[in-house]
Amino acid sequence: MHHHETTGKTLTLADLRQDIVGIDTLVPLLDGSERPYVFLDNAASTPTLKRVLKCVEEFMAWYSGVHRGTGFKSLIATEVFDRAHDVVGNFVGADPETNTVIFTKNTTECINKLANRFNFSPDDVVITTAMEHHSNDLPWRKHARVVHIGITPDGHLDLDALKKSITQFAGRLKLVAINGASNITGICSPIHTIAAWTHAAGAKIFVDAAQLAPHRPIDILPDDDPMHIDFVALSAHKMYAPFGTGALIGAVDFFEAGDPDVVGGGVVDMVTLDTAHWNHPPHKEEAGSPNVIGGVALAEAVAVLQNVGMDEIATHESELLDYAYGKLKRLRGLTLYGPLEDLSEKVGVIPFSLDGMHHSLVAAIIGTEGGIGVRNGCFCAHPYVKKLLKVTPDEDHAITQEVLSGNKSRMPGMVRASLGCYNTTDDIDVLVNVLERIVRGEYKGKYVQDISSGAFHANGYQVDYSKYFSFFDFMERPARRTHSEAS
Ligand SMILES: Cc1ncc(COP(=O)(O)O)c(C=O)c1O
Repeated sequence: MHHHETTGKTLTLADLRQDIVGIDTLVPLLDGSERPYVFLDNAASTPTLKRVLKCVEEFMAWYSGVHRGTGFKSLIATEVFDRAHDVVGNFVGADPETNTVIFTKNTTECINKLANRFNFSPDDVVITTAMEHHSNDLPWRKHARVVHIGITPDGHLDLDALKKSITQFAGRLKLVAINGASNITGICSPIHTIAAWTHAAGAKIFVDAAQLAPHRPIDILPDDDPMHIDFVALSAHKMYAPFGTGALIGAVDFFEAGDPDVVGGGVVDMVTLDTAHWNHPPHKEEAGSPNVIGGVALAEAVAVLQNVGMDEIATHESELLDYAYGKLKRLRGLTLYGPLEDLSEKVGVIPFSLDGMHHSLVAAIIGTEGGIGVRNGCFCAHPYVKKLLKVTPDEDHAITQEVLSGNKSRMPGMVRASLGCYNTTDDIDVLVNVLERIVRGEYKGKYVQDISSGAFHANGYQVDYSKYFSFFDFMERPARRTHSEAS
């Protein structure tokens, strides 16, 4: 962190690619050859930056429990950990006087925490959308009456319906919870406009920035701006620092009020046998020994991204997306979901399918014959994906019954290729090339579907993992404990 602040922009996008841990890693293909892995699953989790790894390694010599020790290592670790919070707050433009940055495990934990802390009454309304990741939907359902705003056929949020709904529920509406960018289509909804509508109705807005933070600059704006974002959450593992940290940013006052959702060590100033006086945020909300390393890693990643420039990153990813869509649109038999024009309004997520082919089969071929990491399925946003795929309620019902009986073979889904700031047009070319081969029927393997998972596997693709990672040399798979041993 320290070394970037004063030096201005010293890193370029090209530096970032060289800075990706494992950028040249060879992976085995079906034909027995190997090729450098092309990673196009960044929306799930990104690889690590070498700078982040180096920072973590250096910090390890100083690693110590924080906030309670008196030794030098504890003092320096505490200072580093506290500053890491500030770096993340600064990344989203939070006023440090009035906002707090709470470190959690990931975005999911942030949202559950916020939902727990809101103290909803059963009649309170939370407006969310039909395009959310389950993490920004299910936690609200546990606590409040949730209204889902629908989407247009090309996957955009129905803004008219949203505006109407916000007005309609004014008074009972406590929160509008919306993603900053979709993990399926990459669409970025106009969060600041929605914030203004929300505030006019006397409610607060939460933005799930898990998918936005790695790709676009975020500015929650001053607290008294009608377009201010009240709460925002992000995950470090999607930002080149997969060490188990997420961050929830919001008003100190909000978290000063009420009880913490998780209690134990660290959250209190003073405890007697029958009273507990809560500490101030963020400590109040970070119960137990925190993930110091994850916090340091996230801050370093933020510093690196800021050094390159979030605007540069956004521009680069937009160009890559244009390049990819230019090629993919010409591929016969390939359907792209979501917007096909004006791609600058979306982050680099490319959802597609190939006519007449199961999404799991396509993804398996891309992996085993292309050496490319993509993902397929419904991506933890079942309602949105099913809507984009035009799954009818009857089909949905029938397939749900099949899934519940252990058969996932007809689970709807699509394939998703997703970009990181370090990807290049070469990476896109590798993907397009494999897709062209598949479309021409030139793939080699015989693929068999496992009904219980829905996944396809190529016959004969059996790789000795220990050749790639030594862990398997010394880690015998432990025998399953019998019931009597376990009890
Ligand atoms: C839009 C969105 N929200 C929330 C999440 C959940 O993030 P995490 O798995 O880090 O808790 C994800 C992750 O896939 C996401 O894409």
